[in-house]
Amino acid sequence: MADAPSMDVVVSLCKRRGFVFQSSEIYGGIGGFWDYGPLGVELKNNIKQAWWRATVQERDDVVGLDASIIMNPRVWQASGHVDTFADPMVDCKSCKRRFRADELVEHKHEAESVHGQAVDIAGVPCPDCGGELTEPRMFNLMFKTYVGPVEDSASVAYLRPETAQGIFVNFDNVLTTSRRKLPFGIAQIGKAFRNEITPGNFIFRDREFEQMEIEYFVLPGTDEEWHERWIQERFNWWTGLGVRKEKLRIREHTEDELSHYAKRTVDIEFDFPFAGFAEIEGIANRTDFDLGRHAEHAGRELKYFDEESDQHIVPYVIEPSMGVDRCFLTVLIDSYAEEEVRGEKRTLLRLHKELAPIKVAVLPLSRNEKLVPTARRVWDLLRPRFMTQYDDAQSIGRRYRRQDEIGTPLCVTVDFDTLDDEAVTIRERDSMEQVRVPIEGLVEALREKLGGA
Ligand code: GLY
Repeated sequence: MADAPSMDVVVSLCKRRGFVFQSSEIYGGIGGFWDYGPLGVELKNNIKQAWWRATVQERDDVVGLDASIIMNPRVWQASGHVDTFADPMVDCKSCKRRFRADELVEHKHEAESVHGQAVDIAGVPCPDCGGELTEPRMFNLMFKTYVGPVEDSASVAYLRPETAQGIFVNFDNVLTTSRRKLPFGIAQIGKAFRNEITPGNFIFRDREFEQMEIEYFVLPGTDEEWHERWIQERFNWWTGLGVRKEKLRIREHTEDELSHYAKRTVDIEFDFPFAGFAEIEGIANRTDFDLGRHAEHAGRELKYFDEESDQHIVPYVIEPSMGVDRCFLTVLIDSYAEEEVRGEKRTLLRLHKELAPIKVAVLPLSRNEKLVPTARRVWDLLRPRFMTQYDDAQSIGRRYRRQDEIGTPLCVTVDFDTLDDEAVTIRERDSMEQVRVPIEGLVEALREKLGGA
């Protein structure tokens, strides 16, 4: 079994099988934007459902929210994003390519560790052509737009760079309408936008992406303990979805990489083939920074009445924050496998059943007209109950391989015996084991094998 596929292999599988396409491809694409195809949208929805179920539905202390993408621009002044959500940018004077200065600094550190001597960033040449670079200047990552027909400074608005602020500005609304007591959380899934200087590595860093964030409000003084609990909780979520423990690690942010709002941040990282360990989720202690800033800027109290101490307090916030797209890439890479079966290579995605885009494929042994009505009847039986696919093109062996490659956990084969005994074969993706079951008990048998997925 191959340990980790190269990025080229993953990108090619995604395109060939309809998981992910380049945005606006027929016009040459647009950097940092991607479209999810028929299988991709299923996988993405399954990831979101798994997260929502674990964080909202199964818990008794987290409620959901769906806030707007464009908000009053004062939100982003209060949050600090207008002033500080920026990356240092440099341009090559020769080839005009643009880079993030902090990434070049990382290259510099790598060079230092390879060559064993300090490399002066001021003298770092363009990594592409060796040309001279400009001095770094700060570039704000928020996309700007105008609200209404007049394009002037009074109508400037931003596409949200994080879903979190939609939660903070609704803190009071949720608190009063859902009559919550601390600790409690608000969860949200939604699009966010960052005008990254160097998007790249497929959907790893894109300019339009989808976040899943929880803002968990706690009594000050209990924040450090809750932070630890959430780190563990979130790590278990990833392994519960089948991501191998040895491919994950937990990394503490250093002082100089902490965001402007964070007292402490811990990243869960995955070992990506193109980048080594890199962030797939950040769990931050945002303190009372955001509620405090919004209270100040909006002139509204955003406090919680604590009956025990008989005081109004500003809660502290623990924030587990992750991107759906990066999670998508993680589970694809982690589940990808190549095996040799009877001298032939088979490629498979050992996706967790809950995430698999197609749960059951219905495969008539051939297109023989005697088989078709029964195969269609089986498909009609399963379609309302499971995400299914019907495939009758080419040999049965090739169709199994096609389903393996997209991670379908179960195939149901209708053959000539079915016409006599009203039974079909269920074939499992990972073990390739086959069992024969009567059509009458098929739904039940599939449910059992899928374990509620
Ligand atoms: N809300 C944290 C982030 O977007 O990274």
